Amino acid sequence: MNAPFHPRGTAAREPFAAFVCDEATAEALRPIASEMGWQPEKVTRGGLRNAVQTLAVSASPSILFVDMSESGDPLNDINALAEVCEPGTIVIAAGQVNDVRLYRDLVSSGIQDYLLKPFNADQVREAIAHAQLTLAGPRVGVEVPSERAHAMIAVIGVRGGVGCSTIASSLGWLLGEAEGRSTALLDLDVHFGSAALAFDVEPGRGLTDAIDNPGRIDGLFIERAMVKATPKLSLLSAEAPLNHPLVTDGSAFFQLQEELRGAFEMTVLDLPRHMLIQHPHLLHDAQAVVLVVEMTLAGARDTIRMLSWFKANVPGVAVLLLANRVAGSAAEISRKEFEESIERKIDLCMPYDPKLVAQAAKLGKPVAEVGKAGKTTSPLIDLARRCTVIADGAGGASKEKASAKSLIDLFGELRSKLPARKPKPKAK
Ligand SMILES: Nc1ncnc2c1ncn2[C@@H]1O[C@H](COP(=O)(O)OP(=O)(O)O)[C@@H](O)[C@H]1O
Ligand SMILES: [Mg+2]
Repeated sequence: MNAPFHPRGTAAREPFAAFVCDEATAEALRPIASEMGWQPEKVTRGGLRNAVQTLAVSASPSILFVDMSESGDPLNDINALAEVCEPGTIVIAAGQVNDVRLYRDLVSSGIQDYLLKPFNADQVREAIAHAQLTLAGPRVGVEVPSERAHAMIAVIGVRGGVGCSTIASSLGWLLGEAEGRSTALLDLDVHFGSAALAFDVEPGRGLTDAIDNPGRIDGLFIERAMVKATPKLSLLSAEAPLNHPLVTDGSAFFQLQEELRGAFEMTVLDLPRHMLIQHPHLLHDAQAVVLVVEMTLAGARDTIRMLSWFKANVPGVAVLLLANRVAGSAAEISRKEFEESIERKIDLCMPYDPKLVAQAAKLGKPVAEVGKAGKTTSPLIDLARRCTVIADGAGGASKEKASAKSLIDLFGELRSKLPARKPKPKAK
């Protein structure tokens, strides 16, 4: 059941079987089975346990529906099912637990879809249509996945306005053009995203539709929703109306990441920092995080806090520290002071270059394209190279140990090194 792209021997199989836990679910499924031309008797009771027992001694159907409501340990039971289920079977599960982590784990275990009970007939029809699409064979039109493992690079700004989106769009462009990887740029600033603007394209409705209807996200959806910026780079971004709040449990983002993984070699995630708090699981599958920092007091404080968050939540991820808008002696704090306070080195420094940035904005092209191999873009070229090396599993980003000192200690040390603020002259 883990190999939906290469279904084998489906011709000799029953098209469908369902193992449900209660009569209401059976009654919901039987008319749909009839509609599809399948035998309604294939809907039987006994749930996941019966599915495992039955499939251990008989051939697996093409589409298998399992009700997990009576399962005490859904993941374990799904793994038991995987052992008896033949490759190529598409599994649709249903249950009463509404938890995105369970959903994630189930999808990783090879199930295609999870329907929350009670579900309606349209949800079942949609899940079946999706399963049939997968059975119909490899997806067309989207880049053919290569032998290389997919890698996801998240770009996060330590504070708003540090240039996170500028760097994410240039990184996406370079991974495509300079590194030759088919790349997706996913801009998760749903209301104010600027990825489409950076490439002078219309963002379309794809991302907002995905968030509103995570069940619709599949290979075809991705193919239609992604906007091509260059032959090697596709975007998914939005300009959601400002009266349209972002309401999601995060399953849409997980599903999007899953589909992008199948269709591209690299995904660059432009991740507004507040999303990290709401949806920490967004980084679980990332190989690298590019943390864009500014050399200010507030920047140092938040860098310390975010490095410690990465260490606690995604300990395996490689963190590349990129200081942007570096303006030499005009900096609020020096590079040395900044590095001492965060207790690690900055990996890359990009200068403050308003002229180039303005030129790129006017042309509707990413900074990396307009700046060619100049001094502002060379750190970006270096960044793309390092990300490719990490993607290929050769490591290369520093995973320097965070200090045992508390954040308050670190930050306090920095403050004490700075010249005291001059008292304001008293009014006479
Ligand atoms: N190296 C740089 N030099 C000058 N301006 C920059 C530089 N990098 C980014 N900017 C500008 O800073 C502003 C904020 O950048 P943006 O990428 O939108 O930040 P974020 O996504 O972190 O909020 C933009 O106007 C951008 O053009
Ligand atoms: Mg941004």
